[in-house]
Amino acid sequence: WCCKNCYRTAARIEMAKADSLVILDKDSLEKKKTAICNTGSKKLQVIADFDATLTRYWINGQRGQTSHGLLQQENPEYDDKRQKLYEYYHPLEICPTISIEEKTKLMEEWWEKSHALLIEGGLTYSAIKMSVSNALIAFREGVVELFEYLEERDVPVLIFSAGLADIIEEVLKQKLHRSFKNVKIISNRMTFDTDGRLVSFKGKTIHVLNKNEHALDMAAPIHDQSGVSNGLTDDNASVKTRTNVILLGDHIGDLGMSDGLKYENRIAVGFLNDNIDKSLASYQKAFDVVYLNDAPMWGVLDLVSDLC
Ligand code: TMP
Repeated sequence: WCCKNCYRTAARIEMAKADSLVILDKDSLEKKKTAICNTGSKKLQVIADFDATLTRYWINGQRGQTSHGLLQQENPEYDDKRQKLYEYYHPLEICPTISIEEKTKLMEEWWEKSHALLIEGGLTYSAIKMSVSNALIAFREGVVELFEYLEERDVPVLIFSAGLADIIEEVLKQKLHRSFKNVKIISNRMTFDTDGRLVSFKGKTIHVLNKNEHALDMAAPIHDQSGVSNGLTDDNASVKTRTNVILLGDHIGDLGMSDGLKYENRIAVGFLNDNIDKSLASYQKAFDVVYLNDAPMWGVLDLVSDLC
């Protein structure tokens, strides 16, 4: 598209079709927008969760798969074991009445068991490629346009996920059919041996409720002993100087993704996909803007086009 107005018009037409937006405090949102707008794109960055935030929750009436969920290890016994873990832990993950402390312990347990099964089951890189090509996973409409708009303005997008970095990368490659120089993935990264078999995970595990602990170290470039980086180059250290943040998440815990950044202004956009009746009140308080009904990304594109 030729200009900002083209993006904005397209976004507004699409948004009008969906009645899915909830904003509790419009004045506060407007103040944040004005403050961010005054400093422009140089100070702005987008921090986004991946599963069920950038990707759709429902696809043709079925639950879209997560970066974990789509994985077929070519070892059905292990796929089965991980599925059983999902059936046990996912309801706990989205349960609004379990305390954060208790839920954090449960999530640590889940990730530890799941990563161990991937190693034990002998996951290969070729199985990842095959799994992604067979997966029921799709980006929300408007994600490509959002990334493109931000890329044209040199605004970084950090995809901060408790899923699996290697799989997210493959999903971006296969489903978006192009790469974006401004998009970086901060997630659980695998190490493979020379036969392409998973041997370990790098660094500390990121699960849904500890993304905040990782914000600071992950926002800086790090390298493991073999010289492999976490996906950020020295140029990206500048993300710390970008003190205006648009945060996209589907979980209240996702708000912690910006904790290490000493931001000046943050607009938090929440996608509430499930348990709407029970969770809307807390989402409205936690996020500046809440999208329901598996809304597309057009509203975020419209918001961003007002800011830079
Ligand atoms: P997110 O940080 O991108 O939201 O990703 C985490 C999601 O991954 C979370 O909703 C739970 C899901 N998950 C699985 O589906 N299977 C697993 O084995 C694990 C550990 C997590």
